[in-house]
Amino acid sequence: MKKIAIKILKGFGILLLLIVILAGGVYYKSVNYTMYDLQANKELLAEPSNAEGYAALAEELVGQMTLKEKIDQMYGEKMYEVPKLGIGFLIKNRFPHVYAGGNERLHIPPWVLSDGPRGARVMDHGINSVTTFPVGMARGASWDVDLEERINEVIAIEMRANKVNYAATPCINLLRHPAWGRAQETYGEDPWLLGEFGVAAVKGIEKHNVMACPKHFALNSLDNSRFFVDVNLDERTLREVYLPHFKKTIQQGKPASIMSSYNKVLGEYAANNKYLLNDILREDWGFEGFVTSDWFNGTYDGIASVKAGLDVEMPYQQVYKYDILKEGIENGEISEADIDKIVTRTLRTRLKYAFSDDQETYGHEEIEKESHVTLARVAAEKSMVLIKNNEVLPLASETGQKVLVLGRLANLENTGDIASSNSTSLNITTPYEGIKAFNQALQNKVELYDGPDTDLAATKAKEADQVILVVGYTFEDEGEYIIYSAADMEKSAEAGKLIGEKGIGGDRESLKLLPEDEALIQAVSEVNKNIVVVYVGGSAINMNAWEPKVASILFAWYNGMEGGTALANVLYGKVNPSGKLPFSIARNDADYPYFNPYTLKIDYGYYHGYTLFEKKNIEVAYPFGYGLSYTNYDYDNLIIKEKTLTEEGKLVASIDITNTGDMGGEEIVQLYVGFKNSSIDRPVKLLRGFDKIRLEQGETKTVEFEVTIQDLAWYDPEVKQWKVEEMEYELYVGPSSETGRLMTDSFHVNE
Ligand code: BGC
Repeated sequence: MKKIAIKILKGFGILLLLIVILAGGVYYKSVNYTMYDLQANKELLAEPSNAEGYAALAEELVGQMTLKEKIDQMYGEKMYEVPKLGIGFLIKNRFPHVYAGGNERLHIPPWVLSDGPRGARVMDHGINSVTTFPVGMARGASWDVDLEERINEVIAIEMRANKVNYAATPCINLLRHPAWGRAQETYGEDPWLLGEFGVAAVKGIEKHNVMACPKHFALNSLDNSRFFVDVNLDERTLREVYLPHFKKTIQQGKPASIMSSYNKVLGEYAANNKYLLNDILREDWGFEGFVTSDWFNGTYDGIASVKAGLDVEMPYQQVYKYDILKEGIENGEISEADIDKIVTRTLRTRLKYAFSDDQETYGHEEIEKESHVTLARVAAEKSMVLIKNNEVLPLASETGQKVLVLGRLANLENTGDIASSNSTSLNITTPYEGIKAFNQALQNKVELYDGPDTDLAATKAKEADQVILVVGYTFEDEGEYIIYSAADMEKSAEAGKLIGEKGIGGDRESLKLLPEDEALIQAVSEVNKNIVVVYVGGSAINMNAWEPKVASILFAWYNGMEGGTALANVLYGKVNPSGKLPFSIARNDADYPYFNPYTLKIDYGYYHGYTLFEKKNIEVAYPFGYGLSYTNYDYDNLIIKEKTLTEEGKLVASIDITNTGDMGGEEIVQLYVGFKNSSIDRPVKLLRGFDKIRLEQGETKTVEFEVTIQDLAWYDPEVKQWKVEEMEYELYVGPSSETGRLMTDSFHVNE
């Protein structure tokens, strides 16, 4: 008996040992995964010299492929590589290189995706830190498209240095409601602003032979039900509100790729949606690149996806399986020619990047180098929006000041969501660190209190000369909704409310700050009238409970690795704040369009953001395009060059702006077109131009705008065409969308 027991134990021991060795092996292999060359070997594959050459090469290669090899081009990694993803992501908190489309026999190198709306997400072996920029919404608030292009160049450079050649960015989904968890990744509520930023981002990325991939196509503006929600809207709303920025980004930016979204659009999942992926994207807009799916839960039906025009399923085979597609071919649902078309267009696009022979220019020394970090600081400075200022800011930068920094977030490394838009920097400056470093030169002591005791905070605030409160959110409060079971998400979506445990991040269920932040502001504002509230977050908040009690409010956003330094520079006036809101802030939460994070269906109406508030005459707390400065700007002399134009014409208008205050600064000049005389239902006005200019004290500059008349068009669903109305239009130019502050004139469009 004893002997048998010993034998069994031994057997178990050996089994356990084998399991441990195997698990160790898988772990080791997953962490130290193999890296593949992304360059084509020109000795084995002849380099084409032009677009026709790439098309011919792609066709030739496809001609040599077996059906299985073709299907192998249509998804990311093999299933057996998936532990690399799981272990990297869950245990090491690192996102690995996920390869797609390699074919050794035909010498076709693979391509590799990295996320990266605020910095490269995928890091090379041995690299643990990259330049981390402010989030997209912050940069949207900078209204600086040149800056956006440079930021994306840097992101692309660092991606190349990390051995990646495909960037899953920019995110250009429209901010329909401020509670959207991924608001921070995009650029704002307005299609025009989004389009301009999308183009800038794509251009920056593509300059460095990285394939850009705007996402998520389309209508992904709600996260907690993203795998299930069906977004309904009419054709006009789709074309005029939710797609123009995609169209512009595709047509002017010319990205190699685009990512379909998780959600359904008009009853059909985006990855299966022929109307979106083929009819609109390819046929109407002329997109020539390839479409990839969103990850894990982004595909549903292989046959429908082939028919719709989804080219690559990510990150591994779920529906683009050999058996499924072969059967589809055999029973005539699809043909092998459909598969050939998909593989050819993917190859003809991506091989261009494989032939770029600039690899040696992107070494590890590029990563987080000084000029990149400086750009991260400048971006943070140019993004901050001064919302309110009762003469407290800029703070006195003089010796002898008692400075107090308060709040849970005051000394937290908090650069935003930690899901797919994550970017890791080991060199983050927190708000407190930035303020402390600034005061060091002045020999001022800076006290930090980030504990929960509001009475203690108030006692300290009584005695301080400068009180800065850092409030807002972290990845726990908002971001991509990470839930480990899609079934749980479905249950909540079906019930219309949260069932079971909430995942991480996701949509906000309240637009207010967390109760502890509100309590801190209340307690401190009782004893000190000069407090500065710094808000860290990705979208609009409801400030009603405390806004009147505080002297100054600065929206600092998730402001990247240099956020703390930038914050101090703005608070103390070394840099004049120049950001403006890329969204409107409503007075009441009920004024925003309907939103429920848990839902199977949602209707998107024609109006949202400023178009909604203006149409319904609803007073807002802070309008779209709003932001203060430490100086003043005067607007004068609005001139329209030619007041009668034809449909093919261009409106040319100019305006003079003078800095009348006593500090140099940057002003964002906005141009809107109004539709008062329209015979159809149209917004009061729409943004159709903006420019950010630098003006020293007393300086005047003339800003010139051009608006093509086609940009005034509306989409007539009856005839499925864009139409320009012949009528008188209003032109508004000024510092924000607020009507009272805009200069106005009018012009005519005739035949
Ligand atoms: C996100 C995408 C991202 C992808 C890969 C998805 O969950 O929605 O934006 O590119 O993951 O990380």
